[in-house]
Formats: sequence, structure tokens, C-alpha cells
Amino acid sequence: MLKIHNLTVSARGEEILKGISLEIPRGETHILLGPNGSGKTTLLKAIMGMGSFQTSGSIMLDGEEISGLTIDERARRGVGLALQRSPAIPELTLGGLLKIMGQDYDPAAMAEKIDSLNCRYLLNRGVNVNFSGGEMKRSEMLQLLVQEPKLVLVDEPESGVDLENIVVIGEALKRLLKPSREKDKERSGLIITHTGHILDYLNADKGHVLLHGRIICSGNPRDLFEEISRHGFEGCVNCQKCS
Ligand SMILES: Nc1ncnc2c1ncn2[C@@H]1O[C@H](COP(=O)(O)OP(=O)(O)O)[C@@H](O)[C@H]1O
Ligand SMILES: [Mg+2]
Repeated sequence: MLKIHNLTVSARGEEILKGISLEIPRGETHILLGPNGSGKTTLLKAIMGMGSFQTSGSIMLDGEEISGLTIDERARRGVGLALQRSPAIPELTLGGLLKIMGQDYDPAAMAEKIDSLNCRYLLNRGVNVNFSGGEMKRSEMLQLLVQEPKLVLVDEPESGVDLENIVVIGEALKRLLKPSREKDKERSGLIITHTGHILDYLNADKGHVLLHGRIICSGNPRDLFEEISRHGFEGCVNCQKCS
């Protein structure tokens, strides 16, 4: 589904990502781990085509090179991104946005999705305008459920969210990435997480550790998470298993 080869991303002459190669097969969910500032958010933004970065390398979605495309073209081809902190759009209501995204939706299906994320009372408000942490995350998850992307990118779904909302968001992620509908089983995901809570909801196939702009280790996500919880990311530097 996603095939990244030798991706470098720079901002203002500083190289942030230094030759990332990563493959996520159809139907697989991968987890991205790494300390603050290692380049995780930059990687998701580069896949979506956001930010004023200089990039080189290849990003293939479903066999098609997308690295030269604009954000909206990538979204139309099936890339969906939920950011950690999303911008507010006062001119556009959440309901208006959902209407555009789900044009061919049956109203009952749309209503069910809105209620599953408890977002009905937010429909007449500007997207993300004065939304609380939980409201913003629920609204982002709802947008992904309505967009139905082929490739789901989520930046720290559990950050700034209380336990009650984590359950709601976890269930939405499960619905996106561990679905019961045959048609949805082809979907792939790349999820950034720090706490590991979200691993309880996902059937993650693989984890990757990003450090200083390079993927230094890939493996079983739960094992990686446990090792990092015990030894920190410095443990990854000293670990000889991957080298
Ligand atoms: N647009 C930008 N201009 C300059 N530096 C940036 C820009 N975006 C990100 N960076 C820098 O790149 C590094 C990685 O950032 P980021 O991808 O947000 O890390 P992470 O998500 O892993 O915490 C940081 O040092 C950050 O300051
Ligand atoms: Mg980040």
C-alpha cells in the first residue's frame, strides 16, 4: 500500500528525515515510536504533502508515485491524516466539512458515525474552534471514518485525551484498522504512539523506531514498546540486535 524509498526532508537547510525507507503492505497497521524531535510528525506530514519542506526520494501509494502531488490530490487518492494539533477553521462548520467529505453517504450511516464519536453537538461549530483536546481528537477520528482513506495516518491519538475519550478514540481506530467489513480489511495504517494505550485497540503488525531522522529498528510492536519502556530510546542506540 505504502512504499517509501530513501525519503529525505529538510526545512531551512536542516535535514530532518535522513533517508527513510518504509513499506506498509495492504491491510497492515504499523506503529511509529521515537523521542520528541526525532521527526515522526514530519514523516506523516511529508506523506500527506503538508508543510514547507524540501523533499527528495519516493513515496508510492498503491503503486503510484504521490510525492509530487498536492495535499488534496493525495487525500482523493486515499491518504487520510489526523494531526496531533489541528488548525482551527472558523469559516467552515464540522457539519459542513462532513457533508463535503461524505457526499455519497446514506444519512443514516453518517448519523451513526457522528454519534459513535459523540460529535453531534459540535456540528454547527467551526472546525476545531475552541474544541477541547478530547473534542478535537473525536472530530479528527470522525473525519477519518467519513473519509474512509486507504492509508490512515494518526499522530499521537492519545495525547491530551482523558481515559474516557481514549476508549472512544480507540474504538474508532479499531473500526478503521481492525474492521469487520470485508471491503475495509485492505486498509493500512501508520500510527504514532507514546503511551502504548492504543496498542490495546489495534492489531499492530510491526513497529518502527525513529531516532534523529532515521529508522534504526523495526520489529514486533509490543516487544519494541516493552524494551523502550524498560531501557529508553538510548537502549535502542546500544542495542546490537538490528545492526
Ligand atoms: N517547518 C519546520 N521548520 C524547521 N524545523 C522544523 C519544521 N518542522 C519540524 N522541524 C524540526 O524537525 C524536528 C523534528 O520535528 P517533529 O517531526 O515534529 O518531531 P516529533 O514529531 O518526532 O516530535 C524538530 O527539531 C523540529 O523543530
Ligand atoms: Mg510529533
